[in-house]
Amino acid sequence: MHDSLSNHTNEDRHEDVERVLVSSAAIAKRVVELAQQIGNDYAHADGRLTVVPVMTGSLLFAADFVRALPQRRLRLQLTTVSSYGGKNTATRGSTLSGSLPKHLEGHHVLILDDILDSGGTLRLLRSEFESRGAASVRACVLLRKKIPSAVSTPCEYVGFDIDDEFVVGYGLDYDDLYRNLPFVGTLRREARA
Ligand code: IMP
Ligand code: MG
Repeated sequence: MHDSLSNHTNEDRHEDVERVLVSSAAIAKRVVELAQQIGNDYAHADGRLTVVPVMTGSLLFAADFVRALPQRRLRLQLTTVSSYGGKNTATRGSTLSGSLPKHLEGHHVLILDDILDSGGTLRLLRSEFESRGAASVRACVLLRKKIPSAVSTPCEYVGFDIDDEFVVGYGLDYDDLYRNLPFVGTLRREARA
């Protein structure tokens, strides 16, 4: 059901959310578009494509993305990078906190991340994968903040460019909460206490 004032479905609300920036419907449509474009771009890499979702933020994005790409033979290898901690909303630099994907020689690597902010995560992973003999390394983010550090970081595929605000939902968290929201939105001040 749609309400008459917006395109947001009734599910796109939560008492702690101030404003919906990207509705669940818009995400669903864009993820399919990205998967189709990327599926075409990687036609030559069938069987040699390794998709690397960056945990935990891209969990929902990755699950929807790969399901929209059923015809491609691809491997899924998770990696974990930490940038923000707990209630901290300012970037602290990126550190690898899990194991890295293995056997990348000759594989085309596609990094999937939730959001491009300082660019630290993508820079770190790109250089790691390139040094491990990947045939190519590209990145796809669902969201990119309209700030110089993000826009200047190489990233081949971007779902949405958004204003520079702290957002939650569709995998993105504040203090490990709100990842389960099906949309992306900003938090009310009271929820960020
Ligand atoms: P970067 O390494 O600074 O580009 O940041 C990327 C990571 O920081 C993302 O994968 C998120 O985990 C986290 N992050 C950046 N901005 C936000 C935000 O607005 N909300 C929640 N997490 C964010
Ligand atoms: Mg992340």
